[in-house]
Amino acid sequence: MSGANILFILTGSIAGYKACEAISQLVQHGHRVRPVATASAQRFVGLATLEGLTGEPVRTDLFAPGAALEHIELTRWADLVIVCPATANTLNRLAAGLADDLPGALFLAHDRRKPFLVAPAMNPAMWVHPATVAAVKRLSDWGVEFLPVGSGRTACGEWGEGRLAEPFGIVAAIEARLARPQRRLRVLVTSGATAEPIDGVRVLTNRSTGRTGAGIAAHFFRAGHEVVLLRASNSAAPDAPCRVEEFGSFAELDAALGHLLQSEAFDVVIHAAAVGDFGIESVVVMGVEQPVNGTKLDSSALPTLRLRPQPKLVDGLRARSGNRALQIVAFKLTQGAPAAVARRAVTDLLAHAGADLVVHNDLAARTGWETFPADIYRRDGGLAAHCATRAEIGPALEVLVSAMPTPETISTPHCHAALS
Ligand SMILES: Cc1cc2nc3c(=O)[nH]c(=O)nc-3n(C[C@H](O)[C@H](O)[C@H](O)COP(=O)(O)O)c2cc1C
Repeated sequence: MSGANILFILTGSIAGYKACEAISQLVQHGHRVRPVATASAQRFVGLATLEGLTGEPVRTDLFAPGAALEHIELTRWADLVIVCPATANTLNRLAAGLADDLPGALFLAHDRRKPFLVAPAMNPAMWVHPATVAAVKRLSDWGVEFLPVGSGRTACGEWGEGRLAEPFGIVAAIEARLARPQRRLRVLVTSGATAEPIDGVRVLTNRSTGRTGAGIAAHFFRAGHEVVLLRASNSAAPDAPCRVEEFGSFAELDAALGHLLQSEAFDVVIHAAAVGDFGIESVVVMGVEQPVNGTKLDSSALPTLRLRPQPKLVDGLRARSGNRALQIVAFKLTQGAPAAVARRAVTDLLAHAGADLVVHNDLAARTGWETFPADIYRRDGGLAAHCATRAEIGPALEVLVSAMPTPETISTPHCHAALS
């Protein structure tokens, strides 16, 4: 990526040192960074540090002599603006449309066709305060894009959400936003295994790690698409700061899918989650049948599980979405299946799910964690791409779904295109 013009606004948070690390990485990646610091930010980070990192004077004052119209010039210059770290105070001020300081004036003068990112950092109580929640909602409605906050121990010694994203994540989010795919897709990826409760502590699940889905989500995010990863709570986390939602059981995945598909306009669903085929109807202990509940079964009792088939969630995706042109990517895993059997399984899935693409892999072909070959089939059953490793699936899918609805044979450096 050639270097971009980034206007980097720091406000008064203890997390300012992380912003310095992100600025350093951005400069090393060839971007031009112009820093802006509020009076409070300067209590945490020295102007010499910011100037030394960027080679630019730090803008601090709306009324600086000789630079009175600089807020207009700066917004024209910037390809992207980020407030990082963003305090509760600044979020509330921006949401109120106040322009009596440099960040406020820059926000109102901002060309809204360009990205305006915010990376919040604050104490957990401040983050969940109704004033902050309302400010985040208002700013989001105006097109401001929020980086996810981290959770854990904050500088004030409290636990919860509100930590500034890590420097790597900040840089990745900025570069993802600067990436210009021909068509920016809204993509929902599911990943990981469903886990059906047997009792209060035990579950019936499968061995999916969620790595394929997490890798695909990270790839689409880095390529500049808008991504939500709906992942099993114990599955692999994405290596990019895309939006993440979590599920545990089949019922939770089902509800989350329903909510996301109805409330947001996705272009593509990549359904890589390993959804259990069986739910638990009831548990029989010492001849007495009981529904599953939150009580731990005594370990001396040998329960019998009564299973029931689960519906195929992939079959209902398009009907549940407001977008009738939703593209669906389904997954089929086989184990040592002869080629003809595997192809039939793919054809069946294409038919009943109404899928546009099916990614098929066979456990017997796996030779390592990442060396897990996959074939991608089109709706007409033709082979669209062969991927030798897990990492190649995301790039191949991006090429394929970006080209729809006029599918073409693809050729990427990593994937062997196939005529079909
Ligand atoms: C040591 C210390 C750390 C602070 N860290 C934060 C923080 O992480 N997030 C936040 O919203 N406010 C934090 N504050 C409070 C802000 O600095 C304060 O609200 C200030 O007015 C923000 O001004 P600004 O938004 O114009 O930069 C902190 C204050 C102190 C003294």
